[in-house]
Amino acid sequence: MKLTLAPLEGVIDHLVRELLTGIGGFDLCITEFLRVTQSLQPERVFYKICPELHQGGRTKAGVPVRMQLLGQSPQYLSENANLAIELGSHGIDLNLGCPSKIVNTNKGGAVLLKEPETIYQIVSQMRKAIPKQHIFSVKIRLGWDEPTSVFEIADAIEQAGASELTIHARTKVDGYKAEQIKWHLINEVKQKQSIKIIANGEVWQRDDATQCRLLSGCDDLMIGRGVLAMPNLANVIKHDSVPLTYPELLTLLVEYSRYEIAGDKGQYYPNRIKQWMVYLKFQYPQIKTLFRELRIFQTTDPIVELLHREVQIHG
Ligand SMILES: Cc1cc2nc3c(=O)[nH]c(=O)nc-3n(C[C@H](O)[C@H](O)[C@H](O)COP(=O)(O)O)c2cc1C
Repeated sequence: MKLTLAPLEGVIDHLVRELLTGIGGFDLCITEFLRVTQSLQPERVFYKICPELHQGGRTKAGVPVRMQLLGQSPQYLSENANLAIELGSHGIDLNLGCPSKIVNTNKGGAVLLKEPETIYQIVSQMRKAIPKQHIFSVKIRLGWDEPTSVFEIADAIEQAGASELTIHARTKVDGYKAEQIKWHLINEVKQKQSIKIIANGEVWQRDDATQCRLLSGCDDLMIGRGVLAMPNLANVIKHDSVPLTYPELLTLLVEYSRYEIAGDKGQYYPNRIKQWMVYLKFQYPQIKTLFRELRIFQTTDPIVELLHREVQIHG
């Protein structure tokens, strides 16, 4: 079984990737998306989203990182894809599932799911441009509002020559409603197509992973929010490890703050750690109390002080 750490824009940055892959269990990471419009982005933009490019495109634990692109211009997507590869990205992932309003107004994300023919054009031109030896994966939802659209979309992506397809088993309209997850539809796609498929969506616990693999028929999974809620979820799934204890989690958060402070990015750390805590609250009820105290702070120091206090109480 291979596990991929999902892209989560605004939450999983290179530091979180470093921490989470350091715990173990992951085989691949996908970056937050790089938005492609009508230009070739400067190299610094690639390094900002994926600083791992400075170290052979791998996290410190050695896990390969693949850059994700989002856009609609086959020409510029191809040019940016090739630069990412040249700089050391382990393949390219194309985001066709982003529900963000701004992105979709510019016809970049999930709105393309309404147009399988356009998807075919984009993916086939990118495939022709990206050297064959590099993996070109595509990430989709089941469709815009009709889950059975996935059959036509998946076929277009396979015909266009993509190497792998990750399916988040909900439509754009489903948003993140847990009860709308349809892992079984991935299995139906698998019956019709031969492209390698990775299942994604709503895996929070070991049992969810077992169920998702059973219903989707996929060996390989991509996991996102569940890992933020339980940072060693990959090992819990793969090796039946027990979830991190609360003191172990606190140590991890302190480590995160050390990394961030070394990076010195002003409000970046307070915002990111608050985003992360939104998910941690699902698995660690103690985080709720801590979050209530911490959310008023806009700077790093008082947050780190609180974390240290919490470590002393529970460590
Ligand atoms: C805050 C947030 C940011 C996300 N950013 C991205 C992104 O940049 N690219 C992408 O393809 N998917 C993005 N997604 C979707 C996730 O990668 C994933 O498909 C989705 O969360 C379902 O998987 P999960 O239930 O394991 O989290 C994002 C989701 C969330 C909640």
